[in-house]
Amino acid sequence: MDPGQAGGASDGAEGLALIKPSVRAQSAYTLSAPTSRRKLNQNESPWDLPAALKREVLAAAEAAPWHRYPEFAPPDLIAALAAHYGWVAEGVLVGNGSNELIQATLATTLEAGDVVVAPTPTFSLYRLLTGVLGGRYRPVPLGPDFVYDVDALIEVAVRERARVVVLNSPNNPTGSALPEGAVERILDETGALVVCDEAYQEFGGPTALPLLAGSSRIVVLRTFSKALGMAGLRFGLALTHPAVARELAKGKLPYNVNVVTLAAAAAALRHHDTLAERVRLIVAQRDRLVDRLSALPALAVYPSAANFVLIRCLRHAAREVFRRLLDEHGILVRDVSGASELAQCLRISVGTAEDVDAVVEAMTVIVGSDR
Ligand SMILES: Cc1ncc(COP(=O)(O)O)c(C=O)c1O
Repeated sequence: MDPGQAGGASDGAEGLALIKPSVRAQSAYTLSAPTSRRKLNQNESPWDLPAALKREVLAAAEAAPWHRYPEFAPPDLIAALAAHYGWVAEGVLVGNGSNELIQATLATTLEAGDVVVAPTPTFSLYRLLTGVLGGRYRPVPLGPDFVYDVDALIEVAVRERARVVVLNSPNNPTGSALPEGAVERILDETGALVVCDEAYQEFGGPTALPLLAGSSRIVVLRTFSKALGMAGLRFGLALTHPAVARELAKGKLPYNVNVVTLAAAAAALRHHDTLAERVRLIVAQRDRLVDRLSALPALAVYPSAANFVLIRCLRHAAREVFRRLLDEHGILVRDVSGASELAQCLRISVGTAEDVDAVVEAMTVIVGSDR
């Protein structure tokens, strides 16, 4: 049907006029993902879940009634999560990916015009959701080589009376981890809710989990999408003071986690040791990727505590290097060079040993190894 027949002008102007200006001002979260032999663009696990684990999940899901709504928060799963992360069950919220819990946290804290402080560059969803919810986003540049500038974060948070400070450590897309003691300082020196997005924490850097007992102004977010290799099933959690958890829960939708995902989350915890072994393999490959790429004089390679590595192309256009990696070598990485602080930068997810070899070989062909 022609959109012009749908009761409005074909350019959508009437409907668009009803969308909040703060939403229209945002760029959508999109990703163009051409198919490739080696998919190193979304910081996923290079390995699917073990077949036996998948069968266990499917058997549990099959036994569950699909015509009934799932439990809000199955007590056994919540108890297992609480034990695993070392926090009280009443302070655990589960979500349809940790993205949903970022949204719930901002939706339940921000009034129109409230300020969210976050480092830049960082995960772009914080800016988008802050804008959608009518808040004001105040990005604070990371320091040289993308090291966290904790003084600057505190200074801006205090000056702007930030309601929320969002810290992603290790930070996507730079790989920088917060220094020890940073979250304590931000809690002490600001009045903000401090959201610690630890999507990549299993791969390195400190965790804020031990701080939960001492402050009700901290929310720690974890995901099963990265280290636990379950991105396709969408499962994440928030850990916070029980009183805060009860309020954050009002910002998420009921029945947000489906029966298959609930079964998979429980199975991932039961088989955690097997999955954690994969993290050790990824960390070893990350360090090898950093070493090998650092030997190429045409690239600057930033240290990473995560399962990805940020590089800057010093002699070539990043866009062209991205294209040649894909077209000539079948390797899909993330071109992040559009952001001003990330000019000529690419982000490469760490895959298998073969993936690392292929990236190094392709990069050597594309950018050369000459001094
Ligand atoms: C920093 C950060 N937080 C959260 C997420 C989303 O995680 P989930 O799959 O749990 O929604 C990502 C995904 O890339 C991320 O990079």
